[in-house]
Amino acid sequence: MPTDLSPIDKAKFVAAKQAIGYVEDGMKVGLGSGSTAAWMIRCLGERVAEEGLKIKGIPTSTRTAALAREVGIDVISLDEARWLDVAIDGADEYDGNLNLIKGGGGSLLQEKIVATASDQMIVIADASKSVETLGNFPLPIEVVPFGWQTTKTLVEETLIGMDVLGRKVSLRMNGDAPFYTDEGNHILDLHLNRIGAARQLSLVINQIPGVVENGLFIDICDVVVIGYGDGRVEVRDINQGSIEESKVDFVETDNLFADLND
Ligand code: A5P
Repeated sequence: MPTDLSPIDKAKFVAAKQAIGYVEDGMKVGLGSGSTAAWMIRCLGERVAEEGLKIKGIPTSTRTAALAREVGIDVISLDEARWLDVAIDGADEYDGNLNLIKGGGGSLLQEKIVATASDQMIVIADASKSVETLGNFPLPIEVVPFGWQTTKTLVEETLIGMDVLGRKVSLRMNGDAPFYTDEGNHILDLHLNRIGAARQLSLVINQIPGVVENGLFIDICDVVVIGYGDGRVEVRDINQGSIEESKVDFVETDNLFADLND
């Protein structure tokens, strides 16, 4: 275990390391975005370099694409891949049914398209992302810039009839300017505190003109790999109804633990 990593980073690392065990030669692999996914991409790059693993990576953000190329993964577009064997990604929250909130990094649209196009979605996370009910993490929704303030008002009005505890909606900023996603859209963060009926909320929000997609991933994730700071991992498989525990042993290599920009 690298000693200079924080417990959270160790947890993210072991989750990532365990999850890449799902990747086999010849697979088309969806590459998630965020700090946990960045560990996974590094680990995959190590397998490419050391084992000669042959995979095609389909990135979910420009940042992920750059990192994947940097570590030697062959990157192709989703249109080239059409269908994927597996997508591995982080999450901001997961509940007991493996429903998720994603989009804290602003990549929810590409992440949802890629995960939905995959035979299997594996989420990698530390245990702090586990919740009984989704909604403590602000729910990101991607909206087109045209008329975004009108869209925001419609979202606020829609929330009045929904089973949520908070209703504040804020435009995500990047410094003094609105944040732009890779698709040229804005993000509205919905501070809901508790989402009572996530499936219903997801469907209703996506009906509002101007909304492109929301960060609720309902019935998309198959497996969550939860990492702990002491190297333990727990693998919850919703289809098999199984929970398995193991421990990840690894050796620190210069390559893998070089500065991460994510
Ligand atoms: C990116 O838009 C998100 O969906 C990330 O997957 C999520 O925010 C998890 O990120 P971390 O692994 O950095 O916590």
